[in-house]
Amino acid sequence: MSEHKTFTNDTIRPHGGTLVNRIVEGTEREQLIENAKSLHSIILNQWSLSDLELIGIGGFSPLTGFMNQADYESVVEHVHLKNGHVWSVPITLPVSQTEANNLEIGEQIALYGEDGTLYGVLDLEEKYTYDKEKEAQHVYGTTDNAHPGVKKVYEKGEYYLAGPIQLINRPQHDAFVDYHLDPLETRQLFNKVNWKTVVGFQTRNPVHRAHEYIQKSALEIVDGLLLNPLVGETKSDDIPAEVRMESYQAILKNYFPENRARLVIYPAAMRYAGPREAILHALVRQNYGCTHFIVGRDHAGVGDYYGTYEAQEFISQFENELDIQILKFEHAFYCEACGNMATAKTCPHDASNHLHLSGTKVREKLRNGESLPEKFSRPEVANVLIKGLKEK
Ligand code: ADX
Repeated sequence: MSEHKTFTNDTIRPHGGTLVNRIVEGTEREQLIENAKSLHSIILNQWSLSDLELIGIGGFSPLTGFMNQADYESVVEHVHLKNGHVWSVPITLPVSQTEANNLEIGEQIALYGEDGTLYGVLDLEEKYTYDKEKEAQHVYGTTDNAHPGVKKVYEKGEYYLAGPIQLINRPQHDAFVDYHLDPLETRQLFNKVNWKTVVGFQTRNPVHRAHEYIQKSALEIVDGLLLNPLVGETKSDDIPAEVRMESYQAILKNYFPENRARLVIYPAAMRYAGPREAILHALVRQNYGCTHFIVGRDHAGVGDYYGTYEAQEFISQFENELDIQILKFEHAFYCEACGNMATAKTCPHDASNHLHLSGTKVREKLRNGESLPEKFSRPEVANVLIKGLKEK
């Protein structure tokens, strides 16, 4: 963090300076819907639909559309947009060669979801091919097809379409309506409840004791916590968002003061890009109005692809360019000898005293209906998970 920056909600700027809003309403929207009937159309998968939504609502500010080739290459190679702003993960719209051949530069294209809904339009400014191995290596740090993010890259169409978008219909997130706020709305909320400093927490897992420990450590120094779980596409063995959402409500209700934490969905797809995704996650939370963001152990990691603190080390290189303060936490665990949660920074005992459960082990236990040790997970959380997974 640069020493002269102050991070409070009065000063937190959206990334790039302006909170983007590409949502069309009223007669303009009616007109676009009418015009869309005669446009070429493409169908977006869940991942691209999430990207469309996040561009539309300003979560991906300053992006106003899918990246052109210059931005794409600059992001892949240099972790910056062409205009100099930090950006770490390509936001692109893949299509097959056949689809690309049917589309002309300058056309407006209707963007449908797999459910047949018209979600938006794209003003097609460019279409370009790209090097999948290069994208995989730079963004994910590996070309291994077993990496879930890399696998997605290899499965994508051969062309990217680029240009500004407009969002005509919103993905509904019906199951989570009470927790569905846009970046503009979370900013308004923070002002209303007078949180000058807000720590954002990304997660794709239930909140266990280690998560709770680092959230509460952060809460000791900021006004509020935005628990901002990712609810877009995740790999199939992650715990489904509907089940997790219930578990978040359980932990907030039982273990956090009501006026210190809010639950809001982050409707993005999970890339598992570790260090690169940590930067994306931080920028997006800045757009949601957070002043601080937690990066703990192996943030957004998967398998053994990234080192425990690689995401922290990587984001440190860009910290002077970010308007959000990164709070880095060491691997947290329950220590039997200390009798509480700790990290290597606060616990003098050796590892035999520390409780560790791998994600795989946890999921296995839950799916078998076994409860989790209380030193690992709050019982209210474990109960919701066992019940939820049984019903799935
Ligand atoms: S993530 O893929 O969304 O990053 P997860 O939900 O497990 O995965 O993690 C959420 C946040 O908590 C991340 O910042 C991660 O680094 C951090 N984290 C998870 N487990 C621990 C732990 N035991 N100790 C410290 N930080 C952790």
